[in-house]
Amino acid sequence: MEKLKIIGGERLSGELVVSGAKNAALPILAGSLLTSKIVSLKNIPQLNDIATMLTLLQSMGVKVLFDEKMNLQLDAASIDTFCAPYDLVKTMRASILVLGPLLSRFGQAKVSLPGGCAIGARPVNFHVQGLKAMGANISVADGYINASADKLHGAIIEFSKVSVTGTQNIMMAATLADGKTVIKNAAREPEVIDLANFLNNLGAKITDVGNDQITIIGVDSLQGSNYEILSDRIEAGTYLVAAAITRGKIKLKKINPNNLEAVILKLVEAGAIIEVGDDWISLDMQGKKPKSVDIKTLPHPGFPTDMQAQFCALNSVASGLAVVEETIFENRFQHINELHRMGASIEIDGKIAKIKGIKQLTAAPVMATDLRASAGLIIAALAAKGETIIDRIYHIDRGYERIEEKLNQLGASITRESG
Ligand code: EPZ
Repeated sequence: MEKLKIIGGERLSGELVVSGAKNAALPILAGSLLTSKIVSLKNIPQLNDIATMLTLLQSMGVKVLFDEKMNLQLDAASIDTFCAPYDLVKTMRASILVLGPLLSRFGQAKVSLPGGCAIGARPVNFHVQGLKAMGANISVADGYINASADKLHGAIIEFSKVSVTGTQNIMMAATLADGKTVIKNAAREPEVIDLANFLNNLGAKITDVGNDQITIIGVDSLQGSNYEILSDRIEAGTYLVAAAITRGKIKLKKINPNNLEAVILKLVEAGAIIEVGDDWISLDMQGKKPKSVDIKTLPHPGFPTDMQAQFCALNSVASGLAVVEETIFENRFQHINELHRMGASIEIDGKIAKIKGIKQLTAAPVMATDLRASAGLIIAALAAKGETIIDRIYHIDRGYERIEEKLNQLGASITRESG
């Protein structure tokens, strides 16, 4: 199993180009099932989760081609299988995103229940309830969702809790349904907006996306598209925190600062000097120790849960006491046990973590438990005294493209070791 070896203490500086967003690419790849015409996609990140989604699509009959510039071409003209099997779905929960497109275009789908993961039970009841409201016959047996529909019809669907992929699945299903669908209490994440822009590029009729109520008018069929995926705001936020904890100065290019406003505000509160342009963000800590900042995770435009672990690491060596509240997932503090091993002073009380900043973390062998926890541990290791070994880094490769290469480009000292 591969590990990362990180020698802490290097101050990060320099420039990085942000990659395409995993959480925009995954629903858009699933959305390619909605059309029989060619879909060409740019800025697809090279990540394990993307490879898993492409394997799933190919298993259904989608033809997948990468050109010399790593642009992707998808051809879903001849789909002959409508099943997302457990062995693929268990490695990537986002496979549930093929359910809506398969039902909407083909009237049938058999998708393995994703099961839980390290951060929580991750149910998909909202997805199922929404599709049933659109006329789908859905039963769950032997760990699979078995779904069929003569023709989905529009419906008014209100989510009791904001769900990103729930909103995306229903939005995709509604593009080819008969009539109008209104999604209430919809997710407003930039990745939801990017999916809607892609679908409208295919000829869908989606309006009001980015608000908490989205309207979709069904059409008979969709065309092809040339589309460039949104840049990854969570990758960008992760590198900004890495620069902040090492008191460095970096500039990120190809990122829209409006998509991580809540994160930027917290970094400014922590003492960072932040400058932004249309497609870039710069951070300068001026060599200063960060100040503690309270965090409460919320649906967008609130503070993103995918940045919570990173800020726990930052707060571990900040000046003061921080209260971090995780309101989205029930078990998203697993990185804290590992930060304790590095000397962090953190008390967990249910969904609240109280973090008392200490002078310096100490390197220790630690274990990644999930994607963003891994990012938090890397950030902690960058500032720790000594050499940290992070095990099970397959978690990190799911969501960060060439992370040690990018961080070393900024002056970090990271090596990947097998064994
Ligand atoms: C998406 O997960 C992201 N994944 C997650 O990113 C992200 O943390 C999450 O949204 C929240 O922003 C992708 O986009 C592929 P939810 P998703 O449905 O859609 C409950 C990462 O690190 N819920 O918005 O699965 C759920 O348990 C990953 O890149 C139900 O109860 O999350 C949670 O408490 C981690 N029933 C809350 O809603 C449902 O049917 C929000 O979950 C669906 C969700």
